[in-house]
Amino acid sequence: MDSLLIKGGTPLCGEVTISGAKNAVLPIMAATLLTAEKCIIHRVPDLSDVAFMGEILKSIGATVKIDGGTLEIQAAKIKGYGDYELIRKMRGSICILGPLLARLHKAKVSLPGGCVIGMRPIDLHLKGLEALGAKIQISEGYVIAQAKRLTGTDMFLGGRAGPTVLGTANLMMAATLAEGVTLIESAACEPEVVDLANFLNAMGAKISGAGSPTITVTGVKELHGAEHEVIPDRVEAATFAIAAAATGGEVQIHGARADHLHAVIDKLREAGVKVERTGPAIKVRRGSRLKSVDITTLPYAGFPTDVQAQMMVLMAITPGISIITERIFESRFMHVSELARLGAEIALEGPSAIVKGGRPLSGAPIMASDLRASAALVIAGLVAKGQTLVKRIYHLDRGYENIDAKLKQLGARIERVAET
Ligand code: EPZ
Repeated sequence: MDSLLIKGGTPLCGEVTISGAKNAVLPIMAATLLTAEKCIIHRVPDLSDVAFMGEILKSIGATVKIDGGTLEIQAAKIKGYGDYELIRKMRGSICILGPLLARLHKAKVSLPGGCVIGMRPIDLHLKGLEALGAKIQISEGYVIAQAKRLTGTDMFLGGRAGPTVLGTANLMMAATLAEGVTLIESAACEPEVVDLANFLNAMGAKISGAGSPTITVTGVKELHGAEHEVIPDRVEAATFAIAAAATGGEVQIHGARADHLHAVIDKLREAGVKVERTGPAIKVRRGSRLKSVDITTLPYAGFPTDVQAQMMVLMAITPGISIITERIFESRFMHVSELARLGAEIALEGPSAIVKGGRPLSGAPIMASDLRASAALVIAGLVAKGQTLVKRIYHLDRGYENIDAKLKQLGARIERVAET
């Protein structure tokens, strides 16, 4: 198992290019199960989650070829179930449920377990599939779904924390082959949902309204193969923007879609960070003085929960009090105790973290607990005086392509070491 050894104190400077979005490519890979024809996907990031999803699709019977950043998937002959352990281990794989049920009228998928950031139930996914006419059973750790046929209908997908991203993806995919029209109310509006709808429409689906809370899907008899380029990863772009500001550097981030990052750019500017849109890129540098700001995570287009931990590091080094409230996941503060190990002063109060910023950070061995927490710990290590060892970076490799090489390109003193 690898760790990252970081010598802090170097401002990040230069140019970096953003990879394709993990949270767009995973549901798009699942969508290829809706047709027997070949699908080609470009700008596919080299991530362990992508490789995992590839193994899951193979376990269902699809052929999966990856060459550089291009994936070729063909689900000619498939079965309604895949490898239990593989599916159980990766939450994102739940979005094979809708496509399998739509194409085969039966599906048996292992229930995704909870994860460190929250319980993460799938009740809204199942509620939507039942509304389309599916019979759902939970047995022996599986979701077993079947339906003579799926019939279009109206459904409301709002839950405790608002809309569900993968739930919207699952129901949108299931509805593409249902008879009649489906109206999804309180749908998630994330850019990744729009990217999936664009891919499905390229396959011959009839979807409108993606990106708004109301999505309309007119069912069709069948879908065909398609070719698609995945959108850039807005969470990776936000991570590099915050790393540039936190280290006091200046970075040009190529491929960052500013129109997907309004809430993040707005908060960075409020905190005194200079963010310029330069064509298909954004340029980020720290202004004269950072200012503490309050943040509440919300569904898109609000401030993304996947950027909360990284932003906490910036607030930890900024003089003043900042209140960071997590409204999407009930336990997404695993990074707080590790940041305290580096000297940050953060108190937890219910769904909020009260950050007393401005204390200098000093390097120490710390442990990553989940994908975005690990990105935050890397940023903290880049800022901290001395040496920081971030352990368990397999979390990081799930969602960041070659992050250490990209940071090195920007001048970071960082190296991957085998864990002792
Ligand atoms: C997607 O997860 C992303 N994952 C997450 O990114 C992201 O944090 C999340 O959306 C929110 O933006 C992928 O796209 C692979 P949700 P998803 O269903 O779809 C509750 C990362 O770091 N809920 O929108 O699983 C749920 O518990 C990951 O890249 C129900 O109550 O998230 C949560 O509190 C982490 N019932 C809230 O809704 C349901 O049936 C939002 O979850 C479904 C969800």
